[in-house]
Amino acid sequence: MEHRLKDEIKKFADLDELSRSAAKNIFEEMKKAVARDGRFSIALSGGHTPAALYHILATVYYDLINWDLTHVYFGDERFVSHADPRSNFKMAKDVLLSLIPLPEGNIHPIPTDRFGPEESAIEYEQILRKAFAGNTAFDVVLLGMGVEGHTASLFPESPALDENKRWVVAVDVPVLPSKRITLTFDILNRSRATFILVAGKDKADTIRGVIGTDADYHTFPVKGIRPSSGRLNWYLDAEAASLL
Ligand code: 6PG
Repeated sequence: MEHRLKDEIKKFADLDELSRSAAKNIFEEMKKAVARDGRFSIALSGGHTPAALYHILATVYYDLINWDLTHVYFGDERFVSHADPRSNFKMAKDVLLSLIPLPEGNIHPIPTDRFGPEESAIEYEQILRKAFAGNTAFDVVLLGMGVEGHTASLFPESPALDENKRWVVAVDVPVLPSKRITLTFDILNRSRATFILVAGKDKADTIRGVIGTDADYHTFPVKGIRPSSGRLNWYLDAEAASLL
């Protein structure tokens, strides 16, 4: 059993303060990665929570982040066109990618408009395997948590939760759009630093059920996020943390 550092739980007054702190720490991780490897790789989360963070990175950190050496990936994607308002890529493009001078080749969306879901997962896995040959994958992984404890598009009782060979799989999920492409725990847990951003009182009950507990990851998939680097950072606003 690898030794795991204690998870870092940070509570913030509101989503704005949470987002500003997350941006600052991501910037620190970027500087370390560029100094160590000459590049910085980050996997973005979808949903609503990270939008404010992405906009802060695109504005406050516009001149500070070395975009030429930054590579952006995605932790999951809804299997809809990248122009669809439900697309995680579209959200990131609107509030971050279209606002920064990131070279085209540094943006790695999950393809959804060329293949079926299975082919898309296979193609994205090839992209990731080419990018990350060693044991470590992303420098930073950003994740959210659904009200029932899903993360990325890893939902309760999904067969994808126990996938330990593939890095990317196509899944059917119980919320719309139901066809999703998601990274699996194997690659998500190879990150140097993982940030799970959770905000809102609707998440408070699940946060109480997962923080510091031995809850099963089949019930609460977010419990399957156990980075081998040992660095797991929970960023909670006051509402999400209100029952801790
Ligand atoms: C997605 C996300 C998903 C998200 C949670 C929380 O594709 O929707 O990757 O895992 O992080 O559903 O979403 P909110 O931030 O909107 O609450």
